[in-house]
Amino acid sequence: MDTEAGRIPVVVAGITGKTGSAAGRAVHQAPDLELAGGLSRNHSGENLGPLWGLGDLPWVLSDSLSALPYAVLVDFTEPDSALPRLLEAAERGWDIVVGTTGFSPAGRVELANRVVQCGVGAAVIANFSLGAWVAERLAAEASRYFSAAEIVEGHHVTKRDRPSGTARAMAETLGQRMKRSPDDIPVHSLRLPGMVAHQTVVFGSQGQLLSIRHDVHDRTAYVDGVLAAIRWVRRVQGRMVTDLGEILDSEAVPHEDVRL
Ligand SMILES: NC(=O)c1ccc[n+]([C@@H]2O[C@H](COP(=O)([O-])OP(=O)(O)OC[C@H]3O[C@@H](n4cnc5c(N)ncnc54)[C@H](OP(=O)(O)O)[C@@H]3O)[C@@H](O)[C@H]2O)c1
Repeated sequence: MDTEAGRIPVVVAGITGKTGSAAGRAVHQAPDLELAGGLSRNHSGENLGPLWGLGDLPWVLSDSLSALPYAVLVDFTEPDSALPRLLEAAERGWDIVVGTTGFSPAGRVELANRVVQCGVGAAVIANFSLGAWVAERLAAEASRYFSAAEIVEGHHVTKRDRPSGTARAMAETLGQRMKRSPDDIPVHSLRLPGMVAHQTVVFGSQGQLLSIRHDVHDRTAYVDGVLAAIRWVRRVQGRMVTDLGEILDSEAVPHEDVRL
């Protein structure tokens, strides 16, 4: 199912958006991947080039994947439109890489079931930034020694979900490690101009505080994780992972591809 040139074909939904465009550009530049198309609600039928501030490029955007041949679908849109699109992609045998956050628990279960039924590979990752994943590992380690922790997350004002998917994943991790419900780990959400994506986990104990902080200043922070996930989903069948670490630690992804 590779292209004639032996590359992995990739279609990006949300390719005109902030994160989807960073992912699309990285796919276009990767020697083993081929940008096969882009999906857009508002710019269907338009050439991608001018939307990226360039001259005409070989891609005209579409609002549906049904006319397209197999590709890995990368989705950075919003959850209401993404869920039916992802279910359709899996039904058609496409592997999927999902950055979109804010799915309901029922939606996540439906997607996981469809992935298993259809035997495709899926990576549904709340944060593709390698720095965020390292921060989560450090916080998991710190949680062995502290019994009180709170999360402060901040994002740009247009972010729809609150708290962020990353903060909810961190609360899950801490809850498991600290043997309490994730709901008992307080999360404080800021939505302010000037922010991109920021998260601090603050651990407190008698006489001391420990802060583990990660800041994203632009969306290129996510692309190494997205590219690793595209390569990884091609090699698994009927599995949906939600932990970026599983992808980064797998032998399917060369370590030099993901070193910061
Ligand atoms: N997992 C991660 O690491 C990560 C990192 C950053 C962001 N995110 C998530 O990725 C998503 C996008 O974030 P963003 O900051 O890139 O947002 P954004 O700049 O607003 O881009 C979203 C794109 O989605 C498309 N879209 C919106 N509604 C749609 C619909 N009903 N049908 C089809 N396409 C639609 C829009 O494209 P058109 O206008 O062309 O239709 C828009 O360009 C959010 O859920 C965010 O939380 C995840």
